[in-house]
Amino acid sequence: MDLLTVNQDKCLRCGICVECCPSCILSMGENGPECNFDRGCMSCGQCVAICPVGALDNKYTPLEKQRPVTMPVLDSATAYEFLRMRRSVRNFKPQPPTDEEITRLLDIARYAPTAGNSQGMYYIVIRDAEKIKAIADAVADWMEAEVEAGTENKRYFMTVLRAYRERGQDIIARHAPCLIFSLARRLNITGVSNAEQSWAYAELFAPTIGLGTTIAGFIQSCGIAGYQPLLDLIEIPPKHKVVGTLMVGYPKYKYQRMPERQHLKVEFR
Ligand SMILES: Cc1cc2nc3c(=O)[nH]c(=O)nc-3n(C[C@H](O)[C@H](O)[C@H](O)COP(=O)(O)O)c2cc1C
Repeated sequence: MDLLTVNQDKCLRCGICVECCPSCILSMGENGPECNFDRGCMSCGQCVAICPVGALDNKYTPLEKQRPVTMPVLDSATAYEFLRMRRSVRNFKPQPPTDEEITRLLDIARYAPTAGNSQGMYYIVIRDAEKIKAIADAVADWMEAEVEAGTENKRYFMTVLRAYRERGQDIIARHAPCLIFSLARRLNITGVSNAEQSWAYAELFAPTIGLGTTIAGFIQSCGIAGYQPLLDLIEIPPKHKVVGTLMVGYPKYKYQRMPERQHLKVEFR
């Protein structure tokens, strides 16, 4: 089967698919859109998704698997409130979320943008409290090594270590009942950016299914740095690397107010 199939009866030759192809590999021929370089297709599905009459099919992103858009879902005022209401949740009930809840959270994260439509995020979910404690300890060990090496994070890590080691405050894993590690193939140079995008989706969706989340920055930095004791604890599969970490659980408290942010700084030129 060719990459593209055009329904000649439906195609309007409007050229919208050609304009919207992110790889610029389509052109308009006499019989509708043609692909000039099949291997350049990133399987994003844009050409099929944008066609106003459903005339185009792409073997990588079949028309029959594309759900019609049902807009408008949110008006801008509701969307604005919804986006502003998201909070980093750092106080959790001890019970971890279920497989089903975590699957729902990660399922929507698949729809976040990825560079070149690379997708391919792979998740490891840890809900064993002892293992999470061991992970936080390993991260503290890594921070100590960073402090000794005099890296640029030295002063910040010293503050974290004082809280964690001397005052016994779990500033690293926040006693989260669940940690999710996102992994990418080792050669994927945009893995960390992809993970950040996917966390944004997960974090916004979480409260709609009764969950709270916070990005576990210290743990993910340690993972991204490739600290072997941490990678051993999470039993990372071969040819993969850590690109992100998220804490997840049922929120212990409910936020009542929305904090203000710094002023918007923008220049129009
Ligand atoms: C890259 C990144 C790393 C973060 N790491 C941590 C972390 O390790 N621990 C933590 O409690 N919060 C962490 N956060 C959450 C921020 O502290 C939080 O987003 C910020 O204080 C604003 O609060 P809000 O998310 O409730 O709006 C992180 C956020 C980002 C974007």
